Order: sequence, then C-alpha cells, then structure tokens
Amino acid sequence: FVEQFNIASGSSLKISVSSENSSTSNSIIFTDKNVDDTLGNEGYTLQSNTDKIILRGASNGLFYGVQTLFQLLPSEIYNSETVENIDWKIAAVQIKDKPRFAWRGMHLDVGRHLFPVSFIKKYIDYIAMHKLNVFHWHLTEDQGWRIEIKKYPLLTKISSNRKGSQIPLSNEVDSIPYGGFYTQDEIREVVAYAEKKFVTVVPEIELPGHSIAVLAAYPDLSCTGGPFEVRTEWGVDKDIYCAGNEATFTFLENVLTEVLELFPSEYIHIGGDEAPKDRWKECSKCQKRKQQENLKDEHELQSYFITRVEKFLNSKGRKIIGWDEILEGGLAPNAAVMSWRGEEGGISAAKLKHNVVMTPSDYLYFCYYQGSPENEPPALGGFIPLEKVYKFEPVPEELSLEEQKYIIGVQACLWTENVDTPELAEYMVLPRMCALSETAWSSKDKKDFGYFTEKLDSHYDRLGQLGANYRWPKLEGFNKRNIFMGSTEVTFISHLKKTEIRYTTNGSVPTINSTLYKSPFIISNSTTVKLIEVSPKLKTSQVYIANYVKQKPLQPVKTDKNINGLKYQYFEFEKDVNSVKELKEMNPISEGIITNFAYPFPNENLPEKFGLIFNGNIKILSDGVYIFNVLSNDGSRLYIADQLIVDNDSKHPAIEVSGEIALKAGFHKIRLEYFQAGGGKALQVFISGKEFKKSEITATMLSH
Ligand code: ACM
Ligand code: ZN
Repeated sequence: FVEQFNIASGSSLKISVSSENSSTSNSIIFTDKNVDDTLGNEGYTLQSNTDKIILRGASNGLFYGVQTLFQLLPSEIYNSETVENIDWKIAAVQIKDKPRFAWRGMHLDVGRHLFPVSFIKKYIDYIAMHKLNVFHWHLTEDQGWRIEIKKYPLLTKISSNRKGSQIPLSNEVDSIPYGGFYTQDEIREVVAYAEKKFVTVVPEIELPGHSIAVLAAYPDLSCTGGPFEVRTEWGVDKDIYCAGNEATFTFLENVLTEVLELFPSEYIHIGGDEAPKDRWKECSKCQKRKQQENLKDEHELQSYFITRVEKFLNSKGRKIIGWDEILEGGLAPNAAVMSWRGEEGGISAAKLKHNVVMTPSDYLYFCYYQGSPENEPPALGGFIPLEKVYKFEPVPEELSLEEQKYIIGVQACLWTENVDTPELAEYMVLPRMCALSETAWSSKDKKDFGYFTEKLDSHYDRLGQLGANYRWPKLEGFNKRNIFMGSTEVTFISHLKKTEIRYTTNGSVPTINSTLYKSPFIISNSTTVKLIEVSPKLKTSQVYIANYVKQKPLQPVKTDKNINGLKYQYFEFEKDVNSVKELKEMNPISEGIITNFAYPFPNENLPEKFGLIFNGNIKILSDGVYIFNVLSNDGSRLYIADQLIVDNDSKHPAIEVSGEIALKAGFHKIRLEYFQAGGGKALQVFISGKEFKKSEITATMLSH
C-alpha cells in the first residue's frame, strides 16, 4: 500500500512498527490484532475518521482491506506515475467485509494462444484487485503444450509448436506456424508474483483428452501409435492418451511430479473434459484394461484413469479438480468438480458431497460475445452481456442447505481461440470480471445490478489509470440505421459520466476536436452521424456510425381477405446450412397455417436441423416508424413489403437484431425466414413504435 501510495501521490509515507495503542494520530494502522473472529482468514474491518484509518484483518484479510482502501481513494492511486493536484482523501467509513466464496477464480487458456509473462502478471493484478484469489492456468491443449518439463524435452520442442493450417477451413487455427512455452523459471516467477497478491495459481494438465500435442511427440502414449501432429484446427481431437498403456501413467506421474514442484496449490486441475472414447473402444490395450478392472464401459475406464491420477496426487498431499465430465463413469473418491456444461454437473457432485466450482458456460465463459456480434471482435458462439454475468447465482436452489456447502466457489473462463493479444484478452474480461467479482465476494442479498453499473462508472476510471483495454459500455439511443418521417431528435446516451461525445455530420471521422454533443438536436434530412466518446484522459472509443434515413410511410396493401394466421412452409435437412438463403433451394416437407411466429416452439420432437418460412400480413394501426426485432438461434431474416428489414442471418446463438421502417396504417406484407442448424433453438419477433412499447407480435396482428 505504502509503495503504491507513494508512487501515485509523490508523498513519502513511512512505515513504522508499533503497538496499536501507542500509534499516533494522522496514521494508517494495519493490524492483525483483535480481529473479529467471524471474519475468517479473508475478512477485514476498515474504519476511517478525521485522524486515523484502522485496517484490521488476519493475513489475507488485510490484503483485501488494502484493495478497498485503494477503491476509496481517487482512481489515480492506480497510476504507475505520480499524479499532481489530487486531493488524497477518503470518506469516513466503517466497513466490515468478508467474501462469500473461498474459490474466486479466473481461468486463462494459453494453449490456443500464448501471452507473455508480463501479461500473465497483469492478469493476476486484475484478479487480485477484484478480490479474486485463484488463477486457473490452462497450460496444455491439443494446439500446444505450454509448460517446460525437464524430463520430456520433446514437449517443448515438438508439442508446443503447431504448423500453420494450410487448409482454408472456417475453423482453421492460423495460417502461420505458432508456438511457445513457459520455462520453469518463468512459472516460478509467476507463482511467486501471484503469492504476493494472495492469488493461488492452479495449473491444469489436461487428461485423458485434449492431449494430441503430447502424442505428436510421444506417439507411444496413444492407442494407435500415431503418427500425429499438433492440432491445427480448433475443436476436439479423437486421439487421446491410451488408458491401457502403463507408459501413459508413468509419463503423467513424471510430468505431475515436476508440476507439483512448481505449483504449491492444494488443487491440481486434471482437465477431464471432452475426451472422445472412439480410440479406447478400438484399442486392445484399453479393452484388456477394461476387462481386468471389471469396468462396464469406456466411461468407467475414464473414471479408472482419473482415479489413478487422483491416487497419485493424493499420495503427494494434493487434491484434484476436473471438468464435470469426470462425473461420467463415477467420480474419483476425493475429486472436486468444475461445472461448465451448465450447473447440472455441479449439482450432482454437491449431492455426492464433493466440492464444486461453478463456471457454467452460459454465464461465465468470457470468450463469448458481450454485445451484438456485428459490433464486436470475433468471439466464440454464445452471448453473455455484463448483466447476465452479474445475475448468475452460483448456489442452485435444488440443493439442501447441507449440500450447498459443497459449492466452494465460482470462476470465469477465457478460452482463447479468438483471443490472440493481451489487449483483446483485457477487452474480453473487463468489465465482466468486475461482475464476477461481486458474485464471488458479496452476499446474494447485497447484489443489485443498477447499483453495480453506477459503481462501475468510477471503476472504469481505475481500469483507465491502469491502462487496461476494458470494453467501454456502448453509446446508446440510436441504431446503425434510424428511420424517421418529417424530422427527428438525435439523442446519444452514454453510460459513462465523465466522458464527452464528439461527432460529425459530414461523413468525416470524428476526433477529439469535432463538435461536442451537449444535448439532443433535431434533423430534418437524411444524415450520417459519426461519433466517438472521449474520456477525461483523452482515450477515445470506437467510432460509432448512426445513419438517419428520412422515409415517407409505405402505403398499405389492399386486401379484402383478413384470415387469421400466417402461412408457413416447414423444411428439414441433413446438410450443414449456414444461411436462410439455402431454404429457397429446398422443397418444404409440409405447409399450413399457424397463429404466429412462436410456432413451433416449444416442441421437444423437433429435429436437430430444420427451416421455416412464414408469410402473411401485419396490421398496423397508425402511421409511424416501426421497429422490428428478431431474436433467433440460428439465423433469420425479416421482410416487410419485400424489403429486408432485419438481417439476423448466419449460424449463431440466440441473438437479437433490429430494423426499422415507416408504415402507413393498414395491412403490410410480412415474411420471416428462419433456420436451425442444431443446438439451442430460439425464435421471437417483436414490434415497437413511437406510441407503444416493444412487445411480441401476437396472433391478433397477423393474417394472410
Ligand atoms: C471446456 O470448455 N471444454 C471445459
Ligand atoms: Zn488404448
């Protein structure tokens, strides 16, 4: 604290050791005496008044108290240089604080892309300042082994390097060779650094799957003998460690022996996810093992595999944690479970009295989109905006009070298929890590998303002082394409209090010297507005483009028929479809009339892949501009009067896209095309206008 305070403030606070009673006024007292015994190891109390600050806590608690003290101070406390003219004062407070969960983690995949040690340390800084305490370091992958193991030099010579993918596949890794690893010295440096910040580094050594990079160097550890290459595509590989081969276990024990020397953590993560059993089913050694050990199937063989590794690690005084697939075939006796495929794995494990860390991909995979894909850097499929992260509740209701105790914590993951620079990693985790932090630390009843976003405003200042490439909350109040009749008011809404908005209307790219936006203004001609947000430190946001298009309202269609319901065509297909356009080349397998777009959901009998085209009329009650929103998984396109209004096409998770059009009262043609390519399903169509709120389009508005 003193080091950081002196740097940022340019003052020269001194440290002295004395008994609490003899310490003078005008001091900041850090003490581990007389700590409230309900606070545990990580809690603290902090009191400040006109002459003293007293921070009281057991070991780690003092560290978290210091983080709070930093947050009470002006954000410049986080600066790495002296900042002049700052009033270094804090509010008078009385704080009593302790974390809700013992495991408060952030994961980082360095297999798909590597990050320099300097960034790993920065990542640990972010973890610590948010009062998180576990760094889950995903060190081995199909696409690269990242930890030096002295006994097996080929792991760093061969397994840590992948060739560039020569095949132009959509999921190709990179077109150039890629590689690298962390030396044992670097790892020691990281672990020591983390320890100073009360962060435990939990290494992950994947087994039995995600291991083809190892097999490329040591093919004898596989079922087939190879040869193999370090994987150059994303996804899951079928070649995994052979469970029938003793050499596999010798290898893993030797590797883990070196891992244990480097990492003092209580838990070692052994992976366990996504291990296809294809090779084991065909392998005589694996089958022999299955027989000898009286195992029912390959899931039990996996359980044998994991339990053997667990026995080894338990004998060295460590515990294992693994992804929830380790439940399949029976959980190893002392294993903890990291629940990623939803919360079900965590619930089952807690009922079996095993410790659980919740990291469900639907809420806590920070590799997923945090905004509309059209405005975001390429990410993995899902959609997890800040609010969704914030609202995750780690303790499932279906657990009894006794079972709930096994939920030891919560963690977010950053898989790095699409994340290849430190800046992008920061963008993906900040501010979602801040939301995770409140879930991990605060009690359930203290959480409030509205209040959180208010606090976030000043938290962005702190992240800014650190130079973090956090994701700015997007400017709102406009769409890419805004339709108006006559004239319209142009409004920009910022979620940041201290920023300025600068804009142009002549097509040029805005700069910090462009026109300052002060309040909403009126336009009466089609205009392209380009804008940026500028922070007090002159950091600038992305350039936003808002097109304002003047339209005359569209004449309605003349229709004397007014029969309720929409016409639909239903398609089924086996092939890989990527766009609704492909439906036009197919013949529908059925046709008919249905009430609204909600058809055919929910329906458990739907096939994996299908398509729908709806046609009909929508009844508009008064002249005006109407906004249509389509939420779909997978793709969809909505047309009004044969004009494409909403383009939500392509294979993707549930994403909502909007479009606008000016319409006269009366009936207008409406057409929706939709396809489902497997996985999650969703389809909802909404309408809103000046005089009415967004609502789902109901049967009463539709006819054909
Ligand atoms: C995982 O995302 N395969 C744990
Ligand atoms: Zn085998």
